[in-house]
Amino acid sequence: MNPPPLIPPLKCQGIKTRLTGEIQRLAQAREFDRWVEPFCGSCVVALNVQPKRALLADSNVHIIRLYQEIQRGELTPALAKAFLVEEGERLRIGGESHYYGVRERFNIRPSSLDFLFLNRSCFNGVMRFNRRGKFNVPYGHKPERFAQAYITKITNQIRRISEAISACDWTFVAADFRQTLASAQSGDLVYADPPYAGRHVDYFNSWSETDEAELGDLLKQLPGRFILSTWHSNEFRTNATIERHWNDPRFHLLTREHFYHVGSTEDLRHPMVEALITNFPVGPQAEEVEAKEQMAFFETTAPHDSAPAPR
Ligand SMILES: C[S@@+](CC[C@H](N)C(=O)[O-])C[C@H]1O[C@@H](n2cnc3c(N)ncnc32)[C@H](O)[C@@H]1O
Repeated sequence: MNPPPLIPPLKCQGIKTRLTGEIQRLAQAREFDRWVEPFCGSCVVALNVQPKRALLADSNVHIIRLYQEIQRGELTPALAKAFLVEEGERLRIGGESHYYGVRERFNIRPSSLDFLFLNRSCFNGVMRFNRRGKFNVPYGHKPERFAQAYITKITNQIRRISEAISACDWTFVAADFRQTLASAQSGDLVYADPPYAGRHVDYFNSWSETDEAELGDLLKQLPGRFILSTWHSNEFRTNATIERHWNDPRFHLLTREHFYHVGSTEDLRHPMVEALITNFPVGPQAEEVEAKEQMAFFETTAPHDSAPAPR
């Protein structure tokens, strides 16, 4: 049995915790020099693939700052524990007003500890910023949020990922995906997990059809290999982009069901079939499944839709 996945201290929409095993299997299929993630988000995938060298990038500067501080030993488990004990007690007493005070403080002068606190006490653990780049998720209405066991869980997560990062040669950068992909080399394996068009639109997540098409073109021109995550279908429709961009014998499609827990409304919590698209074959057993799935997908009679997918 596989060990449970390493869980990062940050939660974000579209987190791929349940896909890490499958992505790890694909990553292990061939050797690569460096793992490149232009949309690293919570970093759960890299943390579980555990590549020796990696470039982990995201447009969200707050995520990148937090990981850089953990890497430099500035944000330690002990520091996080002391901070969450103190702020947790203030939350218990002050509730909503304390939460909004921390939110305001973070929006004036961003800090990783405040970011962690907000991420863990906001409504449904969503990560959302307004057009001016200000964190705007309301209070989660859990004044007792930072109980001792919960703080221990978070500090253990920081400890484990700090150990994982220090054992590897990883670089964290705040960058647009175009910049990250421009630096890709032939020995790299790129794992791209972009936002899904039309969903969770915010300051760091405005994803358009143009972005989608540009990403597709850049991936096709890469000198090395890639794995692309996208949505495949849900009970209502299938993703027309897959057929438009990736219905080509050079590319390989795998599908897996994935249930999203992080979301503010019920319609963000529907089960959905995730797709992994690669530009390399993925092993005999997988290929067999893949061929059937690919055929089933392209022969599907479900209406195709390029409109925003409920997730
Ligand atoms: C679906 S999430 C990635 C989730 C990640 N794989 C995980 O498991 O946590 C997409 C990420 O893309 C980032 N992003 C959105 N637009 C971007 C852009 N133009 N360039 C780089 N990153 C971007 C968002 O900040 C978000 O963290």
